[in-house]
Amino acid sequence: MRIDVITLFPEMFEGPLRESIIGRARERGLLILGLHDLREYATDRHHVVDDAPYGGGAGMVLKVEPIAAALRDVKREGARVILLSPQGRVFTQEVARELAVSTSGFVLVCGRYEGFDERVRSLVDDEISIGDYVLTGGELAAMVVIDAVCRLVPGVIEAASLEHESHTSGLLEYPQYTRPPEFGGMRVPDVLLSGDHKAIAQWRESEARKRTRDRRPDLEGARPDAAELAGDYASGVGSYRLARKYGLSPATVRARLRAAGVALRPARQAARGPSAEDVARLHASGIGVREMARRFGVSHVTILNRLKRTQKS
Ligand code: ADE
Repeated sequence: MRIDVITLFPEMFEGPLRESIIGRARERGLLILGLHDLREYATDRHHVVDDAPYGGGAGMVLKVEPIAAALRDVKREGARVILLSPQGRVFTQEVARELAVSTSGFVLVCGRYEGFDERVRSLVDDEISIGDYVLTGGELAAMVVIDAVCRLVPGVIEAASLEHESHTSGLLEYPQYTRPPEFGGMRVPDVLLSGDHKAIAQWRESEARKRTRDRRPDLEGARPDAAELAGDYASGVGSYRLARKYGLSPATVRARLRAAGVALRPARQAARGPSAEDVARLHASGIGVREMARRFGVSHVTILNRLKRTQKS
């Protein structure tokens, strides 16, 4: 994997990316990191890379020409050019995986100061933000991207270590323990000491799911599978409560249960409001659909459906 970085501060990268796993990956030639000083591509005598913004305002803006010149020199055939900026798409494990398989590598362009001339965006293929906060420049963001991508490059880390970690299957990782078996009154769960590998795997899966639901209900892994929904439903929990528990709509819960072959109990919600016969009677006496909906606190669609039911029969 080859990653080139265009930055005003190439020295910033050497400390963090020389140590530990990434350092070893570089020594072994699994990662080739090219650091390029943007100032060397300045087109004037004084190596100026920034200028005041047109229209006024605070701060300085990175000029487009030095970045264009650096890219002409650095970019290899097929390599994607990625701008680091707080306005980019948010970096996730999925984006890291996508970049890790880019065989031609990529070029990271780090912004600084108040930002860059808008025309820089015409020179790049992608724009990435590492989160919704503003850093003083793109360098730390670039290092985060390099670290997360490099550890996914085959051979950098033992493949088995990548299997169960957080965010691989939309789940956070299960809790881990090592010796001693007891610390400050906190015991390692018995199942982990049992030697029963099947039970351990089940415990880990269930803990990962619990943890994801507690901490990150927005993640894919927080969603229940059909068996879990069916189990809850069979134990008497209604579709409205299930919907609230799992952050789904009641209609989605019922659709998933139906797809899993579960016979649904009549929805309590359907019993709300007037009966079809009442609707027909009130309608005949001149009360409009919306007026009925307002009086009974249901939607006008509910009233219409019940009216249609009596008209059909
Ligand atoms: N430059 C400044 N803030 C940034 C962020 N959040 N992500 C990427 N690059 C940045």
